[in-house]
Amino acid sequence: MRMPDEIEIDRPDDWHLHLRDGAAMTDIVHLSARQFARAIIMPNLTSPVVTTEQAIEYRARILAALPPDSDFTPLMTLYLTDRTTPEEISRAHSSGAIAACKLYPAGATTNSDSGVTDIARLSPVLEAMQRADLPLLVHGEVTDPEVDIFDREQRFIEARLQPMVAEFPGLRIVFEHVTTAEAVDFVREGPDTLAATVTAHHLLFNRNAILAGGIRPHYYCLPVLKRERHRQTLLKAATSGHPRFFLGTDSAPHSLGDKQTACGCAGVFSAHAALECYAQAFEEAGELDRLEGFASHHGADFYRLPRNARKVRLRRESWQVPAQYPFGDGRLVPLGAGESMRWRLID
Ligand code: DOR
Ligand code: ZN
Repeated sequence: MRMPDEIEIDRPDDWHLHLRDGAAMTDIVHLSARQFARAIIMPNLTSPVVTTEQAIEYRARILAALPPDSDFTPLMTLYLTDRTTPEEISRAHSSGAIAACKLYPAGATTNSDSGVTDIARLSPVLEAMQRADLPLLVHGEVTDPEVDIFDREQRFIEARLQPMVAEFPGLRIVFEHVTTAEAVDFVREGPDTLAATVTAHHLLFNRNAILAGGIRPHYYCLPVLKRERHRQTLLKAATSGHPRFFLGTDSAPHSLGDKQTACGCAGVFSAHAALECYAQAFEEAGELDRLEGFASHHGADFYRLPRNARKVRLRRESWQVPAQYPFGDGRLVPLGAGESMRWRLID
């Protein structure tokens, strides 16, 4: 079948994004604002965003860092800790400023030290979220050091997520950045309150990208890339038209120095070419016409927000990804640095 040379879709949103703060944020936020109308902003700053007040202040810093003509809308989240109270959830809800709360199991990933140590003790907070109809966003990996890093997502499903879904049938839950066939099955077979985001890098790469022929830290993220069988399952789910799978880049910038070191940080930066990467993946699956649902409709519908009004266009046109971007005091190596992309987002 002949593929089109240009596609036009409703303006997409990024339902999982790390923007950081300060000068580093200022250097990168325009890249997401060019691609997306809205984004769910992750709260794992060095000092995490744990109160509504902090989220409102962070939102003001994001808006101030945007290019003057941008209408990009940051959707703010709270970071759940052992000390989060049901009262904080009520404040979040009545402020109208908080779109969701994020659950990081303590120690699961970047800046998750203040995360939740015992999910069972979070019940009053989850009940309050269920009452307020505030979605719960979950980093779904167990942190037990005994569990193999490649099995941590799968183990989280049985040990934590399944019980949570059963205990809170009215709570909307997003299983963030799913990476395994087990996670895809769990979401597909789950209730309408359960959805998943899928990153572009997990659709395009398997674990060989990190480890075969040399160690490539810029492909290291959490949850870590899995084997090809899982990538194929993710690709099928994302391109199936199923309304509970949607776009979340998990674009997570770290400076070159923090990546290329003896103990490098987890995170793939993809905001510079997010839609182009997804288009490439959907084209590989022969399902380009399903890109719009995944990128522009399913997430908005799940979050019960209006779909975006304007359109964006992608053209089949090759362009070269820069080797680096400025990033505060440092530099940032983007996904596909120096390589050529097949699709181009037209301004
Ligand atoms: O690779 C990742 N990077 N995974 C996460 O869960 C966090 C993120 C980050 O903030 O750097
Ligand atoms: Zn993330």
